[in-house]
Amino acid sequence: MSAGGGKLPGGIKHVEQLPVEGKRTFVRVDFNVPLDKQTRQITDDTRIVATLPTIKHLIERGARIVLGSHLGRPDGQVKPEYSLEPVAARLAELLGIDVVLADEPVGDGARKVVSDLRDGQVALLENLRYNPGEEANDDGFARTLASYADVYVNDAFGTAHRAHASTAGMVKYVADKGAGYVMAKEIDILSRLLGEVDKPYVAVLGGAKVSDKIEVLDALLERVDAIAIGGAMANTFLEAQGKSVGKSKVEKDKLPNARNFLRRASEKKVTIHLPVDVVVASGLDAEAATPVSVDAIPTDAMALDIGPATVEVYRKVLSAARTVFWNGPMGVFEKPRFAAGTLAVARALADNRLALTVVGGGDSAAAITQAGLADKVTHVSTGGGASLEFIQGIDLPGIAALRP
Ligand code: 3PG
Repeated sequence: MSAGGGKLPGGIKHVEQLPVEGKRTFVRVDFNVPLDKQTRQITDDTRIVATLPTIKHLIERGARIVLGSHLGRPDGQVKPEYSLEPVAARLAELLGIDVVLADEPVGDGARKVVSDLRDGQVALLENLRYNPGEEANDDGFARTLASYADVYVNDAFGTAHRAHASTAGMVKYVADKGAGYVMAKEIDILSRLLGEVDKPYVAVLGGAKVSDKIEVLDALLERVDAIAIGGAMANTFLEAQGKSVGKSKVEKDKLPNARNFLRRASEKKVTIHLPVDVVVASGLDAEAATPVSVDAIPTDAMALDIGPATVEVYRKVLSAARTVFWNGPMGVFEKPRFAAGTLAVARALADNRLALTVVGGGDSAAAITQAGLADKVTHVSTGGGASLEFIQGIDLPGIAALRP
C-alpha cells in the first residue's frame, strides 16, 4: 500500500483495501482547477494529474468509475462557464481512454451514464455544485449520489474541509468507503505536523489578510518555535507595533488581534519574525521598486514584497529548521518585480534537505511549482483551506466521514 507508508489513522481504509472489482466506485475528486477566462483552457492541471494514480488503480482492478467534482462556485445553478467539459477532455488525454461526461450531476441522464459503465470505464458527473443540494449537504441529493455507488472513495483532499453531500452526506449510504492515494498521502504527511516533530518547527505565513489566518496563527502558537510572517498581512503586524507603513494595505479592524497575538507569542516564547525591510512602490504597476527599512516606509508608498535583509533573516531561520510549514506568498509574486521574497522562501525550503518541509496549497503551491522546486520539498499539499484547517487540528468532515 502506498499511503506514504503504513496504515491510515482512525481505521480509514486505503483504496487498495476496498472491494472494487466490477463495482460502481464513486470517487470524489477535486477538479477545481483554474481556467483561462477567455479560452476556458485549463491553466494548471496539477489537481487532475494528482488523481491519476487512484483512477489508474481502479481501472486496472476493473472498477466502474464514477467521478464527482465541483468547479468554482456556480451557487446551485447550471452555468456553462463552470462546466467540467474541459476537465473531462484533459483527463481523457492523460488517461488515454474515453471519459464520458454526464451532462448533469444527477438525473436520468446521469443515471444512464452510470448504468452503461463497463468494468474499467470512467465517467465524470457534471459539476456537482450545479445542484444546490451539494453545498447544502441535502439528504435527498446525497442519497441520489449514493445510489450511483457500491463503493465510495474520497480523493478530494482540497475539499475535505467542506461538509457537502459528496464529501460527507452520501458516505453513510455506501457500504464500503476509503481514501484514494491523494487523500492518503495528505493525511499521512499532514498528521506528522500534529504529532511530535523535529525541532525547531518553523511556520512561514503570508498572503493578503490577517483575518484569513488568525485562527491558524493562534493554533500554531501551541506547536511551533517560530513564525515568519510576510505578504500584506505583515503590514498589519508592523502597524500594530507602531510603524508607519505608508499606503500599504492594513486591516485596521484587526490591529487589536495582531497586538494580542504578538503578546501571547511572547508569553509562549514563540519567536515572531516580521519583515525588517520591504520592497516598496507607488503602486502595483509602478516601474520603480525600492527596498527600504520598515522604519522608513515613505508615506506615499506601498509595501509589496519582503526586502533583501528580511530574506536573509528568513533564509537563516529556515535553514536551521527541522520542520517547516509554509502557506501564503511573501509579496505580490504574480508580478516579477515583487516575487523575490516568495521565491527565496521556496528556495530556502528546497535547500533544507534535513527538514520535513510542507507547503500548503493555493498560492504558495503555485509559487514553488513555478520555481521548479516542488519535487525538492517533502510535500506540496493539494489543499489550501483544507491544509490550513488540518494543521490546526480540526477534524475535517471529508476525512471524518471515511472512518468506520
Ligand atoms: C479549493 O480550491 O480550495 C477547493 O476546491 C474548495 O473550493 P471552495 O473554497 O470553493 O469550497
